[in-house]
Amino acid sequence: MGTILKTFTSESMNTILAWANETLKESDTIAFKVLNPDIGRGRYAGEIVMISDITYLHRSYKAWSDLGELLVCRMLTPKAVSEHTIQITYEKLDLNDSFHHSDDKEEKYGTESRFAAIHKNEEPAFLSPYLRALRSVKVGEKKRILNLGINTGDEFDLIRQILPHDEYLNLELVGIDHSQTAISHARERFSEGNATFYVHDINDLASLELGKFDLIITIGTLQSPGIDFKLLFMQLVQEYLIRDGAIILGFPNCRWMGGEMIYGAKAPNYSYSEMTLLYKDVYYCKKYLQQKKFRVTLTGKNYIFLTGTSIRKD
Ligand SMILES: C[S@@+](CC[C@H](N)C(=O)[O-])C[C@H]1O[C@@H](n2cnc3c(N)ncnc32)[C@H](O)[C@@H]1O
Repeated sequence: MGTILKTFTSESMNTILAWANETLKESDTIAFKVLNPDIGRGRYAGEIVMISDITYLHRSYKAWSDLGELLVCRMLTPKAVSEHTIQITYEKLDLNDSFHHSDDKEEKYGTESRFAAIHKNEEPAFLSPYLRALRSVKVGEKKRILNLGINTGDEFDLIRQILPHDEYLNLELVGIDHSQTAISHARERFSEGNATFYVHDINDLASLELGKFDLIITIGTLQSPGIDFKLLFMQLVQEYLIRDGAIILGFPNCRWMGGEMIYGAKAPNYSYSEMTLLYKDVYYCKKYLQQKKFRVTLTGKNYIFLTGTSIRKD
């Protein structure tokens, strides 16, 4: 537990943020004492709590956790310092501990990569909107499901977890990825006989002669380098979806480092999260699908989920 460097009572969040930013330039860990959030619970951030003539401003654990994330730190377990106060400790994340830095084309996301340590379904901010998307397309009623950039198959695994086993076995699952090691692992994980995996470049789907699908899922993949995003997306809708098919697209709006999923996509030429590219791509897909008579919803936070369900009548 780091030494307490500062005590905050009625200082503004602006003051605390400035202090934290400055102190983190010198130190990898910062610790400070504040009012125990349980005492002021139910209040909004900044509401006054008076204790023994001391004026405190309330902040919830959510606010302290948000601050840690914004500072690109992990928050350690808060410790009680006195009857009314606790210690908040932030530890800088190791920015180099991330798969984002690898240059290996096919195996950047392979089983030996740092990416393999990530289990997205265990992060509530990913799990909850993905579950909602699967339910909204009625995944159990689909027959053929295609996943592009399947990696080791986590997206299929959740489908297997939520459906009754017989219903799951009626699905025909097809997963494609150019990582040989990830696909070998996926083949071992899904050995029930209803899943096929290809080590293949998704720019060349034609040579696989896959036929059409009731549902296409692709998460964190279409915006990869070397993929013509718009072209591939239009091709998927026109050539690989049945007339009343559905599509789930997941757009990352986070970075993974030091064991944490940090909100906000990193944009080229910006030192902070800038979302023009994200909004542009998401909006392009939304507009395109609406023109093709799909009902489209956008949900999520660290991953933006675009869910399109065809409502074509002709
Ligand atoms: C960011 S990962 C996302 C994996 C998984 N969908 C997830 O969200 O955990 C992108 C995946 O797409 C694969 N990929 C990228 N470009 C590809 C291409 N041109 N052909 C096939 N797979 C590709 C990578 O190997 C990787 O597994």
